[in-house]
Amino acid sequence: IEETLVLVKPDGVARGLTGAVLARIEAKGYALVDIRLVEPDRDVLAAHYAEHEGKPFYEPLIEFMLSGPSVAIRLAGNRVIEGFRSLAGTTDPTTAAPGTIRGDFGRDWGLKVQQNLVHGSDSPESAARELGIWFA
Ligand code: GTP
Ligand code: MG
Repeated sequence: IEETLVLVKPDGVARGLTGAVLARIEAKGYALVDIRLVEPDRDVLAAHYAEHEGKPFYEPLIEFMLSGPSVAIRLAGNRVIEGFRSLAGTTDPTTAAPGTIRGDFGRDWGLKVQQNLVHGSDSPESAARELGIWFA
């Protein structure tokens, strides 16, 4: 069975949307394998976001992810990687489709980094790598 890493990012936790995200995951029928509240340090975030190092939004992204706790979820199910990304919606919350987590709950707050509530691994390789980082 496929697994993925889902994060409810600091904006989602701070806004009290963890339950709403979990409700959608459970309604879709995916299985919670593990879940924890995490306060990642800079090393964890640098590993997680290694692919974005050097991009203009990288530092604001790291600072944002350090701004408060995230909820890390190990999620399982057939095709759960693409399934959760479909639930999440596209990266930019302003234009993410209504009905998705980002589309329903996200918006542009005029900040240096897009705050889009959740993360989901984008491939089996990313999922294995990221689960090893957050559930070490
Ligand atoms: P994740 O599930 O969080 O990985 O989102 P994603 O796969 O849809 O986006 P991606 O991995 O490309 O980017 C990671 C995070 O960086 C995003 O979730 C945003 O918070 C931020 N980000 C990505 N692209 C941009 C951008 O063009 N501008 C800004 N300001 N932030 C961005
Ligand atoms: Mg990504």
